[in-house]
Amino acid sequence: MPANKPFKINRAVVRADFNDLTAVVHYTRAAHSLGLWASERILIDRYFPDKGAHLLEAGCGAGRVAMALWELGYRRLHAFDFAEELLAQAQSLFIERKADITLFHADATRLSLCHVMRDKAFDGALFMFNGLMQIPLRRNRRRALRQIAAVCKPGATLLFTTHDRNSSAAEQALWRLEARRWAQGKQHPALREFGDRYFEEEGTGRTFMHLPDRAEICADLKATGWAHVHDVLRRAVASESAAVRDFSDECRFWIARKAD
Ligand SMILES: C[S@@+](CC[C@H](N)C(=O)[O-])C[C@H]1O[C@@H](n2cnc3c(N)ncnc32)[C@H](O)[C@@H]1O
Repeated sequence: MPANKPFKINRAVVRADFNDLTAVVHYTRAAHSLGLWASERILIDRYFPDKGAHLLEAGCGAGRVAMALWELGYRRLHAFDFAEELLAQAQSLFIERKADITLFHADATRLSLCHVMRDKAFDGALFMFNGLMQIPLRRNRRRALRQIAAVCKPGATLLFTTHDRNSSAAEQALWRLEARRWAQGKQHPALREFGDRYFEEEGTGRTFMHLPDRAEICADLKATGWAHVHDVLRRAVASESAAVRDFSDECRFWIARKAD
């Protein structure tokens, strides 16, 4: 990298962070012992009632959600991630628990290049625990939404999550400060768009995440072939165990249907 070019978050940085040992241990532990959150289980039961449905899980990580879907009786599952180290963990978990899930390596923004996706028409897709929001730049998140739509049937259901920017008064105050920094060009130089965060937590590792507002996601769905069905904060769906709250903060679930 030329010395005068400031470091910017891009897909290679995000992928390297997910392949990092700290992140791999964190997500592998969750895949083995945490399973689905109560809220995820309720929404999956509600929006994917057919166990024979052909489902695609994007950003499956170490297999937490795909494994749980298999254990709930879903039998036609494809799952992918772009972080090889997490995929290796998912693979060994699926083998250990005898789960016949088609696992493959792919980038959600480049699904059309993936031979496994040729001629596929899924009944539904999931991009759980903020994976979509870990794609830097809005145009790339839209590309991923479009590419997932392209391999789904009309009427297919999409379930994903985001983090709200304003879920508490303290956060609202922080984002007001951040807006001032952006207006003055004083934001963290690695960030690409207002709403981006890049942070490090003990036990989780480095995380890039874009925190959108509602209007942004509604517009992105509309622009990429999805019709908004419902969105809801996790706490309004279920109260989660301490273990789940320790693993993940409050989030907003989004449900959309592929437009005809
Ligand atoms: C927060 S983790 C969640 C992992 C898993 N779904 C879970 O709930 O435990 C987000 C996942 O999205 C994946 N991801 C992010 N951007 C991606 C992309 N462009 N293509 C494929 N996977 C991606 C990451 O590698 C990571 O495994």
